[in-house]
Amino acid sequence: MKILTGNSNKLLSEKISKHLKTKLVNNNIKKFADSEIYVEINENIRGNSIFIIQSISSPANDNLMELLLCIDALKRSSAKNITAVIPYFGYARQDRKVVPRTSISAKLVSNLITKAGADRVVTVDLHAGQIQGFFDIPVDNLFATPIFARHIKKRIKNKNLICVAPDVGGVERTRALARKLDIGLSIIDKRRPAPGKSQVMSVVGNVGGKTCIIVDDIIDSGGTIVNAADALIKRGAKEVHVYITHGVLSGEAVKKIKKSKIKKLIITDSINNYDKLKNSTNIEVLSISNLLAEAIKRISNSTSVSDLFK
Ligand code: R5P
Repeated sequence: MKILTGNSNKLLSEKISKHLKTKLVNNNIKKFADSEIYVEINENIRGNSIFIIQSISSPANDNLMELLLCIDALKRSSAKNITAVIPYFGYARQDRKVVPRTSISAKLVSNLITKAGADRVVTVDLHAGQIQGFFDIPVDNLFATPIFARHIKKRIKNKNLICVAPDVGGVERTRALARKLDIGLSIIDKRRPAPGKSQVMSVVGNVGGKTCIIVDDIIDSGGTIVNAADALIKRGAKEVHVYITHGVLSGEAVKKIKKSKIKKLIITDSINNYDKLKNSTNIEVLSISNLLAEAIKRISNSTSVSDLFK
């Protein structure tokens, strides 16, 4: 078994390889003057099971293309089998036609990954679990919930807690965490009047006097979470802590979070935010390297991955 990394999140790949006590495959990814991507593998990988680690994060198009070219290079180098480990599966939010005459990018990206030659996909907190069905190869969708639950138990001492789903799409994920912590659940009715804008219509459940734990898969502009925190505090919540798997953090998101009513935002390192977070005070990063390393180990040994979440 060997591990290869793309350029999207080398820091995470290095941590994973350290957990697995293995070196990253010697490869070379560069760009031609016209911005086309070039991939070269500098060691023999014939007959090896290869795990390629690459998030489809910003710059999403370059990172996606890198992933596809790496898979293609591996296939043409006679790898025995190829697992695409995609800590952040970008393009997943366009998973159906919300209005007529739009594309379904999640399906197209799934087709591209399969067509390039991947035999299996490992990812973390897919935007919608159903995206697994867009693939005709095995997909392991891992969850950050156990990592979040451990952090909450250790760091938040207040016992009057409630888990909050920031929109209806996040209820299943939030319920899973609420069950792990054995606490109640509240749901925010969020509307999107225009792409990139969000509005809280109402909050289902009583949050008065409670410490709220908002859970979501993605924080992008930060609008959803900042508005949700405002609405919860307005309804009498004591504090708002936020746990989000993928820190997309576009534009002014980090500044917005700093100025918001959010006590602490916890994200994972599925996306490399090292530079963006240098001056942030209320954002903490938890690593999923151990989770991914364990999943890779289990896939290589043909043992159960789902047992990781029991
Ligand atoms: C939407 O369904 C997702 O789960 C996130 O809530 C959304 O992508 C967050 O976007 P933003 O931070 O821009 O409001």
